[in-house]
Amino acid sequence: MLPKAWVWLKRYNEAKARLVIGLISGTSADGIDAALVKIVGKKPDRVETIAFTTLPYPKEIRETVLSVSQNGDTETLCWLNFALGELFAEAALEVGKLAQVSMKRISLIGSHGQTVRHLPPQFKTKRKFPCLLKTGSTLQITSPAVIAARTGVPVVSDFRSKDMALGGQGAPLVPLVDWLLLCHPKRNRVALNIGGIANLTVLPVKAKPNEIFAFDTGPGNMLIDGFVKFFSQGKMTFDKNGEWASKGKVNDELLIWLMSHPFILQKPPKSTGRETFGESFLGKVLKRASKFQLSEFELVATLTAFTAESIAYAIKNFVLPKIVKVDELIVSGGGSNNPTLMKMLSQKLNTEILRSDEFGINADSKEAVAFAVLAHRTVVGLIGNLPSATGATSPTILGSITLP
Ligand SMILES: Nc1ncnc2c1ncn2[C@@H]1O[C@H](COP(=O)(O)OP(=O)(O)O)[C@@H](O)[C@H]1O
Ligand SMILES: [Mg+2]
Repeated sequence: MLPKAWVWLKRYNEAKARLVIGLISGTSADGIDAALVKIVGKKPDRVETIAFTTLPYPKEIRETVLSVSQNGDTETLCWLNFALGELFAEAALEVGKLAQVSMKRISLIGSHGQTVRHLPPQFKTKRKFPCLLKTGSTLQITSPAVIAARTGVPVVSDFRSKDMALGGQGAPLVPLVDWLLLCHPKRNRVALNIGGIANLTVLPVKAKPNEIFAFDTGPGNMLIDGFVKFFSQGKMTFDKNGEWASKGKVNDELLIWLMSHPFILQKPPKSTGRETFGESFLGKVLKRASKFQLSEFELVATLTAFTAESIAYAIKNFVLPKIVKVDELIVSGGGSNNPTLMKMLSQKLNTEILRSDEFGINADSKEAVAFAVLAHRTVVGLIGNLPSATGATSPTILGSITLP
């Protein structure tokens, strides 16, 4: 008799279609995005979103995630790992309920978890034994054992480690899914996701996987969120609909200084996170801004312009030299809901800007969908990273599997 795990693997691989749930909380730490998708074929050939929901983090959990990401103590990290497991399981159960699909019918969960530290190879850490570490390092917590136990569904997690172990940035991982879902036979497309950090995937006409490139462009919503929270003394967590930014004038001198940040100028492949554009950087920005005596509206307008300008800079300097023209810029992530940011972006670029919803992918759900697809690829034994995007020495199957 085959062990149970083999029976499950065999059954999964033989199915034509499966229901898979993708779960992620990004660097914004605003909440858990959960997508329930139907995956058809091996590669897969088709991905259909059946339901999507976001389970906002309770305030204390968000605060704890943010504090652990800066200077965590190990006891907090330990319980948070399990607490997030419970919340991610809750998000999976909720998206199932929304779709009226029992967990028994779900074949797999892909859980990205919550990044609490991301130290890509070029990041200078204060590590004690540099000789031991040959690569970057990264840590996504959220116990997959808890998710599997609460839902009864196998879980693929820890997607980024394998790519990093092979010398890569461990990010971005969504590009392969962008390629599967969005590559076009006649149009050069760029998929842009504006989460806490902004990243883009370049999809040249009829591209083969090794022709895709992708990288983080810099902050997405992270600095805007951080400033709004600081200024409203924690009452607000983001600039809803870009209202504050729309009321202020951009300070050009401060913007030029922001644009001189080494990460913005650095050539891809590159990835970044809260270590670079989190609270301590915001502190530096506030110090620098104090000499201009800006209002809160002017400051948030300037930070919003920084996100737009850094994306436009990346497209002009790192994308256009390689593909000549971007026919369509397909935007997703929470930042796509900020009209002031989108307006600034369109003023800086001579490209048609579309939301991913127009391509059948709800803009808020794209990353959750992507981790459902990546989990599927792990179980069917297909590679999940693109070395052209992450800088890893080779393509590889990602993740670890936890059985219920
Ligand atoms: N209506 C809105 N107006 C402005 N910003 C928004 C809006 N909705 C979402 N956002 C921004 O999107 C962020 C969440 O984006 P998300 O894609 O979930 O990022 P992450 O992947 O980092 O979690 C919020 O923190 C907020 O800054
Ligand atoms: Mg989020």
